[in-house]
Amino acid sequence: MVNVSELLTYEHDVLVVGAGGAGLRAAIECSAQGLSTGVVCKSLLGKAHTVMAEGGLAAALGNVDARDNWKIHFRDTMRGGKFLNQWRMAELHAREAPDRVRELEEWGAVFDRTRDGLISQRNFGGHRYPRLAHVGDRTGLEIIRTLQDYGIHRGFQVYMECTGLDLMTDGGRIAGLLAYFRETGRFALFKAKAVILATGGAGKAWRVTSNSWEYTGDGYGMAYEAGAELMDMEFTQFHPTGMVWPPSVRGILVTEGVRGDGGILTNNKRERFMFNYIPEKFAAETAATEEEANRWLTGDSTARRPPELLTRDVVARAITREVNEGRGTPHGGVYLDIASRRPADFIRKKLPSMYHQFKELAEVDITREPMEVGPTLHYFMGGVRVDPDTQETTVPGLFAAGECAAGLHGANRLGGNSLSDLVVFGRLAGVGAARYVRALPAAPRVPDEQAATAIRRATDILNRESGTNPYLIQEDLQNIMGRNVGIVRSDDELKTALREMERLKAEAARVKANGAAQYNPGWHAALDLRPLLITAEAVTRAALERQESRGGHTRVDYPDERAEWLKANIVVRKGRDGMETRRHERPAPPKELADIAYAKIEDLEAAIART
Ligand code: FUM
Repeated sequence: MVNVSELLTYEHDVLVVGAGGAGLRAAIECSAQGLSTGVVCKSLLGKAHTVMAEGGLAAALGNVDARDNWKIHFRDTMRGGKFLNQWRMAELHAREAPDRVRELEEWGAVFDRTRDGLISQRNFGGHRYPRLAHVGDRTGLEIIRTLQDYGIHRGFQVYMECTGLDLMTDGGRIAGLLAYFRETGRFALFKAKAVILATGGAGKAWRVTSNSWEYTGDGYGMAYEAGAELMDMEFTQFHPTGMVWPPSVRGILVTEGVRGDGGILTNNKRERFMFNYIPEKFAAETAATEEEANRWLTGDSTARRPPELLTRDVVARAITREVNEGRGTPHGGVYLDIASRRPADFIRKKLPSMYHQFKELAEVDITREPMEVGPTLHYFMGGVRVDPDTQETTVPGLFAAGECAAGLHGANRLGGNSLSDLVVFGRLAGVGAARYVRALPAAPRVPDEQAATAIRRATDILNRESGTNPYLIQEDLQNIMGRNVGIVRSDDELKTALREMERLKAEAARVKANGAAQYNPGWHAALDLRPLLITAEAVTRAALERQESRGGHTRVDYPDERAEWLKANIVVRKGRDGMETRRHERPAPPKELADIAYAKIEDLEAAIART
């Protein structure tokens, strides 16, 4: 019998779930606004997928090329997202990113410098100018360190190794969160007037991923169960370069900074194959020959960018094709070579983590030999549907930011736009939640029965006599997603995946973890299954619905972009009989933004130069 009055109970104005860049930035904002703020993190403070954005954060500071401007960043982001981005979010992001970078610097982030002492910026795929403020190849780590050091003095309370299970609501409004501490297995009731979800993505639904164990779609699952909508879930980003060998490290990220700093991709014939995959619409701004790409590397401003810096969706598909057609490396990847392009000192200085990662994990010296790389599930463009200005979801009092929220990146995210997303929209979520809390007439109440139901659902897993092993279900799911919901998808495969998921859902309803609630990884794995399965189903249903190929969603049976699909985002929500999908119509963009996004680059640059 659950006695809710005896639960560990905490009370805050705002509860932030997730302590990566978005969660920490949101918590800093809420504390600065004088609100009592709690931060729940699944792992230890500082361990977040934010650190996997290694190469930098995108902001049009114009330090390395003074022609850069928020309008060009906005245009690049819309083009990279295949115009499916929420226009207002892309505008806010491009306009506010430079201020957020300067703020990080004021708070202690130690960025690499130009010769003139400005924050240095490097090239990345899809960005017209060197735009990524960076700290070697450890930028995400430095951002987390900065936000953590600064935030810890702002007075918010951190609850570590604590996993959210269910959002609590009162008459449809958010009232808190039921969570459990992983070490003790004790349940905790967090009463809160507003909750900000910043739980990142769900890479763990696939086997080959850059994500670590925490990323099981907790925010998507909890939001969905509470009645919020998920949007753009079909758009999953496979980063083109993850490690492929040895098997124990398959999927670990190899930063795009390697290509940004001059690295090239070759197949087993040592051909620089990306020249064969330049899409028509990027042809005008991409080098057509090796000779031109080599001139770009030496700083010749008349040369166009090398094809290795095309957007991630294009590069990941090209690598997959090379491998599938027999031109891959012995371990099923392609070669990424910076050794022949840059001196060893340069590589060790600009890419120190990559140097050590390959030395220690693969016994490869990247200053002398090429790396073997292949695509790895890295990021969700989709997520919880939010209002662009406030980040509030369709559930009053529930906010989402960062990878957990949808909208900024459209069908494909540009590298470097996630770190800037975190700090821009983390702050806005904090502002939005603070405004909401202040306007709330009375504090919500958590109904005892809701908390008791959540606890019973969790403890049933320990209390039943027998049932399926949670690790087997998770492994099964990863194989299903890898086989059927990968970089290239088809109607048949997606339907197969949905059928298989029905079987897994039935097994998950009978899952059994042995032992007691105290630190019990099997129980944790069993509890992660619900959000994982909700996320996997949402991705698959949305992918089946979208009958075209766009950005991170490629269908063999609908190989082209189709204009009619630009009119709507696909939204998933919980219906009476299970998951429902609907098309959410997109309003026409404001004229001034459409003019920027669709402008010819020379005209836009000339207009900017005149102002
Ligand atoms: O390749 C990278 O360093 C990843 C960056 C990102 O995902 O933004």
